Amino acid sequence: MYDLNGKTAIVTGASRGIGKSISEVLAEYGAQLVCVSRTTDAVQSVAEKIQANGGKAIGMPCDVSDASSVSNLIKKVQDQFESIDILINNAGITRDGLIMRMSGDDWDTVLDINLKGAFHTIKSVARPMMKQRSGRIINISSVVGLTGNAGQANYAASKAGIVGLTKSMAQELAPRGITVNCIAPGYIETDMTDSLSDEVKEEIMKQIPLGRIGKSEEVAAMALFLSSNEAEYITGQTVTVDGGMVMN
Ligand SMILES: NC(=O)c1ccc[n+]([C@@H]2O[C@H](COP(=O)([O-])OP(=O)(O)OC[C@H]3O[C@@H](n4cnc5c(N)ncnc54)[C@H](OP(=O)(O)O)[C@@H]3O)[C@@H](O)[C@H]2O)c1
Repeated sequence: MYDLNGKTAIVTGASRGIGKSISEVLAEYGAQLVCVSRTTDAVQSVAEKIQANGGKAIGMPCDVSDASSVSNLIKKVQDQFESIDILINNAGITRDGLIMRMSGDDWDTVLDINLKGAFHTIKSVARPMMKQRSGRIINISSVVGLTGNAGQANYAASKAGIVGLTKSMAQELAPRGITVNCIAPGYIETDMTDSLSDEVKEEIMKQIPLGRIGKSEEVAAMALFLSSNEAEYITGQTVTVDGGMVMN
């Protein structure tokens, strides 16, 4: 059904977890992938795995919190490919702690990567996408950005910020044929959630009506749809992929 042939997609945080699954599925449907994270070897090996499966992908290292690195990355992508059609802002980290123990550095680092990183990439791709009069931007938030969560003030603020950024960008860029949407995953099995204690995992499980933890492929399926031509009348939305944890 979906056809991404001829489209170039940049996925940040592509070295593992949700970003890796998104890269794999977009490549499966024909997109040329640019897989981005801070770790050269890791993005390279994701790109090689995609190539081995018949897809088109390259790995490019970049720290999204660094404005000039992001701007250089986008210039390189523009030099190599005719267009930039899809941007998936997925790079993210946690530095959890109760507010009394949260350092300014923990706050800044999470906001710099999770929120300002998305600002940097959107700012850099906006011009080429506006010239093309088309584009898809998908930002990965979290259900925690909608509900808040004790011990995650920095992370929840960054993810709520992503929702506001998405709505503002959707309004600004709609006249140029660019859609901007947000996915808010619930509890997904990745390295990020691996480190949670069994107690915390059990507590979260109780809040999931579908009664199981999600898979990164299930988030990727939503990213594929929102990247496709079929989603051209959808913009400014936040879609939860969470087994029913948060119902609007
Ligand atoms: N797992 C969940 O339950 C869940 C739920 C809701 C939302 N999310 C969100 O989904 C996204 C992916 O999460 P995940 O669970 O797949 O996490 P993960 O397995 O920890 O992967 C995070 C990815 O982000 C990259 N990254 C981190 N800092 C970066 C930076 N400064 N510049 C570029 N890349 C950077 C990492 O690669 P390097 O270390 O190589 O840079 C890695 O590829 C995140 O935004 C997360 O907040 C996850």
